[in-house]
Amino acid sequence: MKQAVNVALTGAAGNIGYAIAFRIAAGHLFGPEQPVNLHLIEIEPALPVLTGVVMELRDCAFATLHNVVATADPSIGFGDADYVFLIGSRPRTKGMERQDLLSANGAIFKPTGKAISDHANPDVRVLVVGNPANTNALITLHNAPNLAPHQISSMMRLDHNRTLSLLAEKLNQHPTAIKQVTVWGNHSTTQFPDLQHCQINSQDASSMIDQSWYKNEFIDLVQKRGAKIIEARGTSSAASAASAAIDHMRDWTLGSAADNWVSMGIYSQGMYGIDPDLMFSYPAVCRDRQFTVVQDLQLNEFSQHMIARSEQELIKERDMVKDLL
Ligand code: NAD
Ligand code: LMR
Repeated sequence: MKQAVNVALTGAAGNIGYAIAFRIAAGHLFGPEQPVNLHLIEIEPALPVLTGVVMELRDCAFATLHNVVATADPSIGFGDADYVFLIGSRPRTKGMERQDLLSANGAIFKPTGKAISDHANPDVRVLVVGNPANTNALITLHNAPNLAPHQISSMMRLDHNRTLSLLAEKLNQHPTAIKQVTVWGNHSTTQFPDLQHCQINSQDASSMIDQSWYKNEFIDLVQKRGAKIIEARGTSSAASAASAAIDHMRDWTLGSAADNWVSMGIYSQGMYGIDPDLMFSYPAVCRDRQFTVVQDLQLNEFSQHMIARSEQELIKERDMVKDLL
């Protein structure tokens, strides 16, 4: 067995935390040969619940789980962390948009950025899940002077996976047959699921996709999937969010598939003409713990319009949190 890696997660006693901790402990993140130490971070009032989660984790007797630390102290929780999942924050409820969470959640990410910067492994990788994820990730990066932009990403993988699964359902295919889709922009209702370069069973999919259905129904379906789940469950997506977070961090660390790309919230330095200093979702490939934005995709006028809309929304969100940057 290799040396254990330290995986920290905030919001560990919450819904996503409860779903993700067991999967990481079971080896679903880095495989059966890589032991993990779990650093479970919560706010003080949630520590009693977290004690129960720790008991359950130990009771699973997972082969890949080494130490478990449960704490409300960020210096301990983020101490020597190699991987961090920032989940801890309030979820929206029915009738809210994710942006409405900015005032409640944004402030969490300023001290979090500083604590990661001060205590984590200098080569740490940080994934922001808590909503609104893109702007929370921007706040984290701005407050983490020891972190470079390539060390932080915001989660768009759930939107990417939804694009695959909803298209697969419509075309009676398996999601794994579908490649080269991108969800651009913000994790919000302006996100743009782009099928312009989509391949199905290694063939250009344009003739298989009804453009009027795509523009008038599909985009909306993907953009509002989170709200539909809240409507049905009374609470926001948790197991699928945990699964997407694992997909995201696993690909980032171990590499994405050779003939495909993934969607990731990445710090904009002007790629595809996007305003710099935004966390923006791009198509990316990953190798050796690095991501690279897929270059030179031709974007038609419709795509450019949709991407610009999401960019404008992110600029607005950034303005709303300028005191935290
Ligand atoms: P939840 O309310 O079940 O759990 C959140 C947990 O975070 C709680 O246990 C709470 O005590 C804890 N917490 C709050 N502030 C904290 C802090 N400063 N440090 C550590 N822990 C803290 O919520 P959930 O369903 O697990 O969702 C968590 C977040 O993830 C929400 O913001 C939700 O909207 C978001 N989310 C994002 C995506 C995505 O695709 N990016 C998908 C699903 C959910
Ligand atoms: C989702 O997309 O399911 C999450 O961001 C939760 C939400 O608020 O929709």
